[in-house]
This record gives sequence, C-alpha cells and structure tokens, in this order.
Amino acid sequence: MATPPASHAGPRLTAASAAGLPEQAALPRHVAVIMDGNGRWARQRGLPRIEGHRRGVATVRRVTEHCARLGVGQLTLYCLSSENWRRPPAELDFLMQLLEQYMIEERALLMRERIRVAMIGSRAGLPEATLAALDRTVATCAGNDGMLLCLAVNYGARAEITAAARALAEECRSGRLDPAAITEDALAGRLDTAGMPDPDLVIRTAGEMRLSNFLLWQSSYAEIWVTDTCWPDFTEADLDDAFRAFAGRERRFGGLPES
Ligand code: IPE
Ligand code: IPE
Ligand code: MG
Repeated sequence: MATPPASHAGPRLTAASAAGLPEQAALPRHVAVIMDGNGRWARQRGLPRIEGHRRGVATVRRVTEHCARLGVGQLTLYCLSSENWRRPPAELDFLMQLLEQYMIEERALLMRERIRVAMIGSRAGLPEATLAALDRTVATCAGNDGMLLCLAVNYGARAEITAAARALAEECRSGRLDPAAITEDALAGRLDTAGMPDPDLVIRTAGEMRLSNFLLWQSSYAEIWVTDTCWPDFTEADLDDAFRAFAGRERRFGGLPES
C-alpha cells in the first residue's frame, strides 16, 4: 500500500540519484522517526522548552517533504508517547495546540505532495479541537496517492499490543476466532498499524540509545540509526546520511551473511 505509484517512479528516482543517494530500491520503504531533543535544543540556547517544540515543527515539514520527494513509501513520526503525560500540563497544552495548528497549516503542503495521513495511538485524553483538526486533515488527504505520513500521537507500543491481545481474546470468547488461528499475522492485524509495512529504518535524534515504547512489535528487524543532533537542527542532509547508512547495512533476518 505504501509503494509510490508508477507515475512517480521516474522523477523520484532521479531526485534520489542526483543527491548521491541510493537508488529507490535501496531506500527504506518505511522510515520511522523518534523526534527527540527539542527540550535540550531549547535549553542549550537559554530558551523555554516549548521553543524547541515550535522549531521542531519546521523540521517535520522539511523531513516530510524530503521523504515524499525521494519516494519513501511511509514516514511515521513519534509525536507524543503515552508516557509523555508525565510532563507539566503547560508543556502538554502547548504540544496539543501545536499539533492542532500543524494539522491545519500543513494541509496545503500535504495536498501538493499528494501525501496521505494516518494516526496511530490512543484518542483518549486528546483535546477535541486537536482530534477534529487531525480528522479533517486525514479526510482531506484521503484521496491522495503518494507517501503515507503516519503520526504516532499518544502512542505506546505496550498499550497497542495489549489492546490487540484483548481484541483477540474477545473474538475467541465470542466464538468468532479459534485460538489455534492466533498467528503473528492475526496479532499484527489488530495493531494500530494493521495493513502498514513494518519500518525498515528507525531514526532517533538527540543521542539516546532506546526505543521509548515506540513500535516494539513492528521494529523487530528494523535497522536503527541514531544521531546526536537534536530534532530542531536535523536537516535533509542528516536524513540522507541515514539513508546512505541504511543502504550499506546487511539485513539478515536471522539468516547467514551473503558470501
Ligand atoms: C521530543 O523532545 C518531543 C516530545 C517528546 C514531545 P523532548 O521534549 O523529549 O526533548 P528532550 O529529550 O527533553 O531534549
Ligand atoms: C520519545 O521521547 C517520545 C517522542 C519523541 C514523542 P522521550 O523524550 O519521551 O523519551 P525518553 O523519556 O527520553 O525515553
Ligand atoms: Mg526527550
């Protein structure tokens, strides 16, 4: 579903080659990003944390456009974790407003680049206005045929897997599902990401070597690339570095190296 349409293959391939990047076949089909370091970026400049978040939105815009133009099939962005509710209410309020504003202001770019939008995570606890802006953008972009931009908002992988297990249990109890039919595909089909390809590449900015409850099931065989650069400073050139590193990785999926 996330493969770019054939009509885009020519120009997109050229764009990748022109930048000295791997041909499209070697680009990750699905890139997932843990956008971290907004607070540190602000602190290093003597600014309030929210300034880091504000600047982070500009990076989201650039990275989204860059991925869409290169022909990446899906870009998933970790916007808010289910554990981020531990933050001060003022920071959370700001993040919700920022998300709402982004959803509204971004529609023109998303339509121009023919990007589709989806959300993963729990709607519970998110403000009505934020959800309404999100839903409207998803609906506006539903007919597009380009990259899928998947926003992980109030997302936590453990909660997602738990909900999938509960759904399977309920189907078994009601007799609609035989426990023997619970396969990996059956569970994956009950995750928020049902129907989406697994991420090939997970990028984390700001240096932490952890997944922070992001796509734990789906990232089983993802390549991981971490940079010390904080998210507001992350550029298209950094993304190209990640893609080049990805192209040089040998993915074995448990098998033996090619000799
Ligand atoms: C990532 O930046 C954005 C969110 C988690 C919403 P942080 O706010 O976590 O920035 P640091 O890690 O404190 O620098
Ligand atoms: C992960 O970053 C969540 C997002 C980027 C939205 P955090 O800043 O919340 O992660 P930890 O707390 O350092 O693990
Ligand atoms: Mg952080």
